[in-house]
Amino acid sequence: MTELKVSAIREGTVIDHIPAGKGLKVIEILKLGRLSNGGAVLLAINVPSKKLGRKDIVKVEGKFLSEEEVNKIALVAPTATVNIIRDYKVVEKFKVEIPDIIEGILRCANPNCITHYEYVTTKFYVISREPLKVRCHYCERTMEEEEILANL
Ligand code: CTP
Ligand code: ZN
Repeated sequence: MTELKVSAIREGTVIDHIPAGKGLKVIEILKLGRLSNGGAVLLAINVPSKKLGRKDIVKVEGKFLSEEEVNKIALVAPTATVNIIRDYKVVEKFKVEIPDIIEGILRCANPNCITHYEYVTTKFYVISREPLKVRCHYCERTMEEEEILANL
C-alpha cells in the first residue's frame, strides 16, 4: 500500500483518528489558528485509514494539551487518539474519552439558563454518547451533537 507522508513533528501533539471532516473543528475549538508559541499546525483531511475508512489528522508543534482541551476534542472527535511527541518519538498515546460530567467547557443552549447570568461553572451530564446527548445541571435543558458543537 502506498502511504501518504505528512511531515513528522519534533515536539508536540498529534491528534490522530479524527472522523473525516472534523479536523477543522478541532483546530477551531483549540484555537490553533492563533497559537501563541508560533508553532506550526498541520491538518490532513481525508487520509485513508484502516479503522475509519477516512480520517483527519491535526499536528501541533510545541503544544501539549490540557485535560480540558482533551475533553473538548472528545466531544468533537470521539474516535481520536492523542500522541505526545518528544524528540520525534511518540512517548505517550491515549484515546480520548467523553467524561460522564462535562464541567466548564460548554455553554448552555438555553438563553434563560442561570449560567448566562451568574458566575457559575457550567455543568452537564452525559446521558448518551452515541448519539451524543447531554443535560444541563442547572436548567435541565438537553443538548444534542449539533448544539453541543455550536456551544464549545
Ligand atoms: N507522528 C508525527 N511525528 C512524529 C512521530 C509520529 O507526526 N515525530 C505521527 C504519525 O504520523 C502518526 C501519529 O503521530 O499520525 C502516531 O504515530 P505512530 O504511533 O508511530 O503511528 P501508528 O502506529 O500508525 O499509530 P496508531 O497505531 O495509533 O494508528
Ligand atoms: Zn442550562
